[in-house]
Amino acid sequence: MPSQHIVVSFELAAERCEDLAPLVYARLFGEHPETEVFFIMDRTGAARGSMLAWVINALLDVVGEGQYGRNLIQAEAVNHQGLGVSPAQFRLFFATLAATLKDVLGEAWCEGMERDWADLLADLDRWLGSNDNRVALPGSTG
Ligand code: HEM
Repeated sequence: MPSQHIVVSFELAAERCEDLAPLVYARLFGEHPETEVFFIMDRTGAARGSMLAWVINALLDVVGEGQYGRNLIQAEAVNHQGLGVSPAQFRLFFATLAATLKDVLGEAWCEGMERDWADLLADLDRWLGSNDNRVALPGSTG
């Protein structure tokens, strides 16, 4: 799903905000307090920062070259079940990120971003269907 709007939403956020991580995690833990316990070992915030960078790069690949992002996300959904993160909790992260960007952008958030983020979140939901955590085989669709 190529989308310049998604790319621009990240670029504008980077101009407006030096580090998205504190905002994303404050929102995640505020709205879904049960997710905070997973990071209890992450005293410095390094794992949180690194994970966010992985998520952003994966999403930029999904809306860009489409080489690895979808498979990475599907594989991580399975890996995270090993950490105790449910598929539903895993999916929360994407909507939390989108809501944070929208907040940071304020007036600069446009209809195209709203539409493309909604489409992207719907794709992610579809790929990560709560009863379906299979990693897609190369060439498979849907
Ligand atoms: C609310 C949802 C999520 C929770 C609670 C969560 C939790 C965690 C935790 C606790 C770690 C550190 C694991 C360790 O001890 O090494 C981690 C690492 C990681 N997570 Fe998540 N995660 C979530 C969503 C996601 C999503 C959506 C992705 C998508 C790609 C992702 C990708 C990763 C990656 C790649 C790492 C390894 C980072 C590194 O060590 O450099 N996570 N996650």
